[in-house]
Amino acid sequence: MITLNVQQPAWIITLLVSSLVFIVFWFILKNSKDREEDYDGIKKKGFKIRNVYFVILFSVLLGATFYTITDLPYDRPPEFVNATEVEVEALQFGWDFSQEEFEVGEKYAFHVTSQDVNHGIGFYDEDMMLLTQTQAMPDYTNTVYVEFEEPGTYQILCLEYCGAAHHLMIHEIEVK
Ligand code: CUA
Repeated sequence: MITLNVQQPAWIITLLVSSLVFIVFWFILKNSKDREEDYDGIKKKGFKIRNVYFVILFSVLLGATFYTITDLPYDRPPEFVNATEVEVEALQFGWDFSQEEFEVGEKYAFHVTSQDVNHGIGFYDEDMMLLTQTQAMPDYTNTVYVEFEEPGTYQILCLEYCGAAHHLMIHEIEVK
C-alpha cells in the first residue's frame, strides 16, 4: 500500500530552495568583491538620499503623532452615552458578569477588569464570529461598547493564554 507522505516532499522542496538561495548569495558575493570601488559614487548618492528620506519620514511621523495623540483617551461614542453599564471580572478560570441577560437593540458598556492575571475577553455570536474583544487586566478597566443585533446565546472566550485551564474560560450570555 502506498501512503502519501507530505513531510518528505516538503523537505525536498525546502532543501532545493535553500540551496538555490545559497548559490545565488555565493555568486553575488564572489562577483562583487573585485568591484567594490565601482560603487563608491552610488554609495555616496544613496546615503544622501537616505538621510533626506529619514528627515522627511521622521518629521511626518512626529507631526502625525502629535496631531493624533491629543485625541487620547478616546471619548465614549456619542450613541453609547446612555448605555447600560455592565461590570465584568475575569479570574483564573472564569468570568464574573454583573448581569447575564441582555436585549437586542440595547446599548451596553462592558467594563472589563481582572482579579489576577491578564486575560482577553472575546464576545462571540452563535456562529462563533468574533464581535468585539479587549484585554482584561488587573488594576485596570477597559471598556467595550456592544449593541447586540441578533437574539441568541453568545459565548465569552478568553483570548490570552493565562494558565493551565485557559481553554476552560468559556461563559455564556443570553440575548433576547
Ligand atoms: Cu483567561 Cu486565558
